[in-house]
Amino acid sequence: MLIVRDLEDLRAARVKLGPLALVPTMGALHDGHISLLAAARETGLPVAASIFVNPLQFSPKEDLSRYPRDETGDLARLEAAGCDLAWLPQVEAMYPLGRATSIEVLGPSEGWEGAARPEHFRGVATVCAKLFNQTGAAVAVFGEKDWQQYQVIRRMVADLDLPVRIIGGPTVRESDGLAMSSRNRFMDEASRALAPLLHHAMQSAGTAILRGTQAAAALEAAQAGLTAAGFAVDYLALVEAATLREAAAPPGRLIAAAKLGGVRLLDNIKVG
Ligand code: PAF
Repeated sequence: MLIVRDLEDLRAARVKLGPLALVPTMGALHDGHISLLAAARETGLPVAASIFVNPLQFSPKEDLSRYPRDETGDLARLEAAGCDLAWLPQVEAMYPLGRATSIEVLGPSEGWEGAARPEHFRGVATVCAKLFNQTGAAVAVFGEKDWQQYQVIRRMVADLDLPVRIIGGPTVRESDGLAMSSRNRFMDEASRALAPLLHHAMQSAGTAILRGTQAAAALEAAQAGLTAAGFAVDYLALVEAATLREAAAPPGRLIAAAKLGGVRLLDNIKVG
């Protein structure tokens, strides 16, 4: 695996490897990321992964320095997964002094995570556009776990005619149903034991909606159950899959964010 830390070496690696399938990451890799690498591999292209904890997508309230970092472990996992290129840019190279450009995607960025974290999607869109340009990726793979992010990237790529095909990789779950996330490690034992309830409540609500219960009633019941169990639910909503606009009935995506034991859990499932 080539490990590259500056743009000059990245250009040389691109010449050597040709068109790439890219998995953008912020490191702290888990099996969810590894499944995205497998999806990238299925394209038949050489596989690249970027590791960059992007300061632009953290608000001043969020603790960028607390984001888990494990470069040695991550590189070993990438190597074992058959990754061809690891791209580890430095913050100074990614965001040069005097930087004055960022990308704002409206539509699917609005509401939900966009409301809770106002600068977040601007940071995500900007860094992803840069990663696409830097690597010249022909394909990029994003986890469906961050459904809104996935739709924001698809919208940006369509709107800006970026020459990259975006693929979604299904959410990978722990055996008890909890969606894998780099932040799960911050939960204490009690919260970790409770956390799968989010997915179970979403599944029950999704099933009830498909059986004819009004979406609003099913979601209210699910939210009440989660709140009683100790979750601070930020949102639990049925939305149109691509636009993230609220939907009264299926088909759609059930999306949720809830805080438990100081960790913000995100999840989503298909309904209909
Ligand atoms: O999903 C993530 O890990 C990040 O938001 C991404 C896409 C790598 C951009 O920094």
